Amino acid sequence: MKVLVIGKGGREHALVWKLAQDERIEAIFAAPGNPGIGELATCVPVGETEIAELVAFAKEEAIDWTIVGPEAPLVEGVVNAFQAAGLNIFGPTREAAAIEGSKQFAKQLMDRAGIPTADYAVFTDENAAIAYVERQGAPIVIKADGLAAGKGVTVAETIESAREAIRHVFSGEYGEQSSVVIEECLVGEECSLMAFVHEDIVVPMVLSQDHKRAFDGDKGPNTGGMGAYSPLPQFNEERLTQEAVERILQPLVDQMAQEGIPFTGFLYAGLMLTANGPSVIEFNARFGDPETEVILPRLETPLLSVIETLMEGRVPRLSWSLQAAVGVVLAADGYPESPETGRELTLAFPKDLLVFHAGTKKADGLLKSAGGRVFVCVGLGDSPREAAEKVYANIPEQSGLFYRKDIAQKAIRTV
Ligand code: AMP
Ligand code: GLY
Repeated sequence: MKVLVIGKGGREHALVWKLAQDERIEAIFAAPGNPGIGELATCVPVGETEIAELVAFAKEEAIDWTIVGPEAPLVEGVVNAFQAAGLNIFGPTREAAAIEGSKQFAKQLMDRAGIPTADYAVFTDENAAIAYVERQGAPIVIKADGLAAGKGVTVAETIESAREAIRHVFSGEYGEQSSVVIEECLVGEECSLMAFVHEDIVVPMVLSQDHKRAFDGDKGPNTGGMGAYSPLPQFNEERLTQEAVERILQPLVDQMAQEGIPFTGFLYAGLMLTANGPSVIEFNARFGDPETEVILPRLETPLLSVIETLMEGRVPRLSWSLQAAVGVVLAADGYPESPETGRELTLAFPKDLLVFHAGTKKADGLLKSAGGRVFVCVGLGDSPREAAEKVYANIPEQSGLFYRKDIAQKAIRTV
């Protein structure tokens, strides 16, 4: 079997790492991949949204399966294009990927399916948005409508910071913005639940928890994620997962199928565990990053067999390791606002860590930083505490990179 993975980050490195353990797979390609991925797969110089080139490559190489990492190609219709060319690909169509691509679409769909989520209002006019915030009061959440890689969200503690966030959205900072979503601020602990989905079949994965803020103690700006861990022993995971599938994931996919936009792919629900049960913060149409880097090391079932079983309309059985995984993102100074890139990376990682490249490149024979999140280091252990000790004892220092020192503390403190 030949497999192509689309993407170039830590999530895709973890996907390739997992696929590389499958004896049925004789060749893995990544487009465009990164230097870490290049140690396990053949990197092809095709960008993740160069859809016609991706289709041409998959045909030429007779790729058996293509797996998509990031949201951009999904939203741009890579699945539609592969399907039209008669190629196997696992992911949602452009229409279904709107569950992530448009917050407004997601909110309206949740309303129709009766899925618990924060109350919201949408504005295309800056002054109307500001007037609404002044009426509602703080705290309040301001979101750019569209893809902003987790960075277009401000949890405003004061009316003044809410006003400023609205001005930012309309200033075009997150790309051409025509609307802003303003949400009720939910209170509780967050967790991520991902599932393998094919139309009405939902197979949940184990839970994980991301750390969105840049600095220790959940301080600083929102980022794409500074670290994640799994499992979450502070919760009754089985009950929580069952409740989230029954109240959130299953109603969502049933509603989508009923409306003629069935979802197939990795479905990600960002949940807030409120006093009234889990409530949806966001849906993503793909694997989470850095959640993937801690989930896949726990998955014992070969990934491709899960996908194949699902695509045949059957329910795959997943086997999970009881080990805990703690993943820490090494980010470039300045991330998320203005990460410094192009710095030579000289750090040597000990064998004890799983290391996924998130934003690196080779230039003049040297390894250099090439993105906000540069590496994700994962430690495994019998508990989140052991896994965290493992990772923190082994992360090498490198100037120009920073990382949070408190990943998994919420589990360690409470259990
Ligand atoms: P998102 O990109 O929608 O996942 O938002 C990024 C982060 O902002 C989330 O992980 C939460 O920490 C926070 N957030 C988003 N929406 C809300 C909300 N309605 N209430 C409280 N926090 C939120
Ligand atoms: N870690 C959050 C995300 O992948 O969107």
